[in-house]
Amino acid sequence: MRKAAVGTAVVCAATACAVSVLIVRRRMRNSCRWARAEAILKELEEKCATPIGKLRQVADAMTMEMHAGLASEGGSKLKMLITYVDNLPTGDEKGLFYALDLGGTNFRVIRVQLGGKELGVIKQEAEEVSIPPHLMIGSSNELFDFIAAEVARFISSESEEFQLPTGRQRELGFTFSFPVRQTSLSSGTLIKWTKGFSIDETVGEDVVSELTKAIDRQGLDLRVAALVNDTVGTLAGGRFYDKDVVAAVILGTGTNAAYVERVHAIPKWHGLFPNSGEMVINMEWGNFRSSHLPLTDYDDSLDAESLNPGEQIFEKLVSGMYLGEILRRVLLKLAEEAFLFGDTVPPKLRIPFILRTPHMSSMHEDTSSDLHVVASKFKDVLGITGTALKTRKMVVDLCNIISSRAARLSAAGIAGILKKQGREFTLERQRTVIALDGGLFEHYTLFRKSLESTLAEILGNEVAPFVVVIHANDGSGLGAALIAASNSQYSELEVS
Ligand code: GLC
Repeated sequence: MRKAAVGTAVVCAATACAVSVLIVRRRMRNSCRWARAEAILKELEEKCATPIGKLRQVADAMTMEMHAGLASEGGSKLKMLITYVDNLPTGDEKGLFYALDLGGTNFRVIRVQLGGKELGVIKQEAEEVSIPPHLMIGSSNELFDFIAAEVARFISSESEEFQLPTGRQRELGFTFSFPVRQTSLSSGTLIKWTKGFSIDETVGEDVVSELTKAIDRQGLDLRVAALVNDTVGTLAGGRFYDKDVVAAVILGTGTNAAYVERVHAIPKWHGLFPNSGEMVINMEWGNFRSSHLPLTDYDDSLDAESLNPGEQIFEKLVSGMYLGEILRRVLLKLAEEAFLFGDTVPPKLRIPFILRTPHMSSMHEDTSSDLHVVASKFKDVLGITGTALKTRKMVVDLCNIISSRAARLSAAGIAGILKKQGREFTLERQRTVIALDGGLFEHYTLFRKSLESTLAEILGNEVAPFVVVIHANDGSGLGAALIAASNSQYSELEVS
């Protein structure tokens, strides 16, 4: 009996010992894993750092590239496209005009009744339609037919409050938010697709005639009176309400900027545009690239695996299409190398673009003490449950690193434009307004705050109070309609 008791005691002691060895091992393993996770986070933080000195270098590089892009065709990664918009809205525009805004995952159709100086925008209506993903990589006809059919539906539902004088053709401003080489205010050829669109047969084609053919196939009597980029539309829409608007920036699915350039500053334009003092330039800044950009391995692999490798590098660091995807890539590394979500990698984490920027912003802006928004996004989007609070805190830190880099770089880009316009250091201070739009700017509050405070930081106390950032909500549609109004086939009748 005694022997048996001793034996049992020995077995128990051995088991207890083994269990505690296991616990110690697991603890050690966990602490090793956590240390690895923290090292990955720290490395990301260092590589994404954007101290003010670096931002000034980025701003200077942007200014230099703007000069180079204007000086010669292909002289820079910045295309600096002439838009033929040399008259921005004055407020005198009158009549019923339409706009079609295509540039991301959704497109919008707008009608607006303009009442001139006294009445302004009398009435405006819009409808938004999402583009089925297969049409983004399908055929040109399919895409344009889908759009034209929606335009036809929109027009057929018009109420009597909108009045088109009898005998007049409807006129539309087409906001096409891709790089286009314009040949006039109402024609231009597509240089390349961006933001996940890829339809080879449209590249090199006149996008207005593609749309016009589709409109004709619908049997619609509608003239495309203007072709504008969304940045240009936003600039025009912004100027309609505020005469001090001199540039516009889109921060949405993609990113880009347009600004007002002085024609006399560009010798080669003197013959081309003899009568105009100003010309709006579509920079296509999404394609900006500089050795000063803080790029990481995550950015390199995202670019290499994208539909347009080597292109739109600034856009891939900054815009809404990519921020969530950068975060996914960091989380995947944490899962693979630090086993942050258990011994196996959660399968959904391997799916590109599954984590969208709106998911990221709601996790980043989760102010609850238990970070339950982070937990629920992880569960709903990635199928990951049971994350520890410290893991969720790390996720918030990651969102902050990735979005701050994007917001601060955008601010540096804006500072670069102001410098090109000579508004950064002028002694004679003038109010300068930048019109911003796009889902990233509109809905990601921490992003927007970071952009605004960084711009003030770069400009300094003396200049910053003169620079105002406004949200030109859906200004690009209104802007396109206004530009169509200024290019209306009836405008001369209006004057006389
Ligand atoms: C992409 C397009 C550009 C557009 C921007 C914002 O960068 O190339 O034309 O303005 O997205 O929508």
